Formats: sequence, C-alpha cells, structure tokens
Amino acid sequence: MTALLILNGPNLNLLGTRQPEVYGSTTLADIEATCRAHAKALNLDIGFMQSNHEGALVDEIHAAKGVFGGLILNAGAYTHTSIALMDAIASVELPCIELHLSNVHAREEFRHTSYIAKVALGVICGFGANGYPLAIAAMHTHLQATS
Ligand code: DQA
Repeated sequence: MTALLILNGPNLNLLGTRQPEVYGSTTLADIEATCRAHAKALNLDIGFMQSNHEGALVDEIHAAKGVFGGLILNAGAYTHTSIALMDAIASVELPCIELHLSNVHAREEFRHTSYIAKVALGVICGFGANGYPLAIAAMHTHLQATS
C-alpha cells in the first residue's frame, strides 16, 4: 500500500509561534504543504492530521489499518507518557517512524523517555521541519523494500 499517514500530537497546531527558538518558525500548514509536495514527487498518497487529544490520535491509528501502509508520528509530549499510543501502534502492526522537530535527547531528562520508540521502526529528531520530508523518504524506502 503506497499511502502513509502523518499524525501530529498536542500543541503542534501552534508551530510558527510556539517557542520558535526550539521549534522554528515554520507553521504546521507549511509543513503539510511540504509533505504533500514530497509525497507527490514520490507518487505516495498521504493523510495529514493533528490533534491535541490522546484518544483522537488512538482512533486515527486504529482507522489507519487497511488504509495506510505506514505511520509517521510526532506525538509531541504524549511521546513521553502515552502507553495508549504505544499499544495502538503495536495493535495495528503498521510500521511507524517517530518524529520530532527538536533533538529531544539534548533537552530535559523527561524527554529522553519515549514509549513510541519501543514500537517504532526508527526515530528522526533534531532536524526541525526538514524531519518531515526525511521521514517520508525513509518510510517510502521501507515500504518499497517490504512490498
Ligand atoms: C516534540 C518534542 C516533545 O518533547 C514536545 O513535547 C513537543 C514537540 C518535537 O517535535 O520536538 O511537543 O515532539
């Protein structure tokens, strides 16, 4: 299946104005446009959504099964707390790339824990908005290799 879902968690709707010194000045709408252009060039269909609600993200992951071949997830702060998101990814058995704009390992200790990484194919962090096209390229390569 050559479609992938890009999911964004809490507070990422505020990108552009939220702590630009940490997350940059690119808005989530700009990121979505970049993702759509990159996906089109690779002949990939994408879904792109953001929610501030853990359960809504769980619902999106469940609904992705059978529709999308892979997930790219920037779970925001839920990365560090959410067993529910970890279980959802494990349950649908879709390959998942964990993504962060910032280098979470160079930040506060509590950001060094990731429940998502335990069930992820890999992790991309620290490249700002450019991490999104990097993740699309990585998932595209993975899907081609496994299809
Ligand atoms: C983030 C990193 C998280 O620790 C933080 O809670 C976020 C954004 C990132 O993209 O760098 O909301 O996921």
